[in-house]
Amino acid sequence: MNNTDLLFYDAYEQFYKMTGESGAFESFCREAFGQDFSQDGFSDIRQIDRILNYIPSGEDVHILDAGCGNGKMLGYLQDKTKAYIHGFDYSENAIKAAKKMFQKRADFRQGLIGEIEYPAEQFDLVVSMDSMYFAPDMEKFVLQIMRWLKMDGVLFVGYQEGDVMPKTETSKTTVLAKALDKCKIRYEVEDITRETYELLKKKREAALLYQKDFEEEGNKEWFDLLMIQTDCVTGTYESFAKDMARYIYIVRKTGD
Ligand SMILES: C[S@@+](CC[C@H](N)C(=O)[O-])C[C@H]1O[C@@H](n2cnc3c(N)ncnc32)[C@H](O)[C@@H]1O
Repeated sequence: MNNTDLLFYDAYEQFYKMTGESGAFESFCREAFGQDFSQDGFSDIRQIDRILNYIPSGEDVHILDAGCGNGKMLGYLQDKTKAYIHGFDYSENAIKAAKKMFQKRADFRQGLIGEIEYPAEQFDLVVSMDSMYFAPDMEKFVLQIMRWLKMDGVLFVGYQEGDVMPKTETSKTTVLAKALDKCKIRYEVEDITRETYELLKKKREAALLYQKDFEEEGNKEWFDLLMIQTDCVTGTYESFAKDMARYIYIVRKTGD
C-alpha cells in the first residue's frame, strides 16, 4: 500500500519535519506539557510520570511505545529507569529522528499499527498515547499487544474521545473498552477529563505565548492549528465534557 493513502500520513510527515526544526514548537511543548516530547496530543508530564509506576526495576526491562512519534517520551522513560526502549510509528520522519537521537539500548522501527509484529512475551510494558485509534481492528490489536507482553506486564493507554474518536457515554463504552470486554480482558480506567480541560487551556495559553516565534519562523500554520485544537476550551468545563473525554486505561496480563 502506498503510505500517502494512509489516514493523516502526510500531515504527520509534515508535523515531524516541523518538530525537528522549530524552536517555537519545542518551547511551546515545554510550557504546555511540562516537557518537550514533540506532543501531538494531550500527554503532559503528569500523565507520562504515571507510566513510571509500571516499569519494573532491573537490567532486562523492555518497554514499547506504539505510535512513538520521534521517541522523545521513550527517551525520558529510559533516562528515569534505564529500560531498553522500543518504538514504532508509521512516520518515516519521526523514526529517522528517533534513530538519530536514541541509539543506546533502543530499537525504533517504521511500521503500521495492526501490521508490525514483535515476538511473544517481549515487553514488560506497552504504552500507547493517543495512537490506539489508528488500529484498523481494535480487538486484533489488543490481542496482539497482550501476546507481546510478558506475564504480569502492563498495557498503558492514553485515550481521547472527541478528537479522532467520537465521544461515547462513559469510559466503559469506548471502542477500546468494548474491544477489551469482547476479548474478556479486565482493565482499570481513570477518567482524566477535568485534568485534560485544564491542560488544553494551558496549551492554548502556551501557543499564544509563542505566537510571535511561530510567525517569525514561518510556522504560523502550526500556531493556527493549535488555536483550532484548543477552541473547545474557550467555553465552560460542562460544555467541553459534553463532546470530549480522556481516559487512562491500565491492562495487566494475568494468567487467567
Ligand atoms: C496523536 S499522535 C500521538 C503521538 C505521541 N504518542 C504523542 O503522545 O504525542 C499519533 C501517532 O500515531 C502515528 N500513527 C498514526 N497512524 C498510524 C498507523 N496506522 N500506524 C502507525 N503509526 C500511526 C502518528 O505518526 C503519530 O506519531
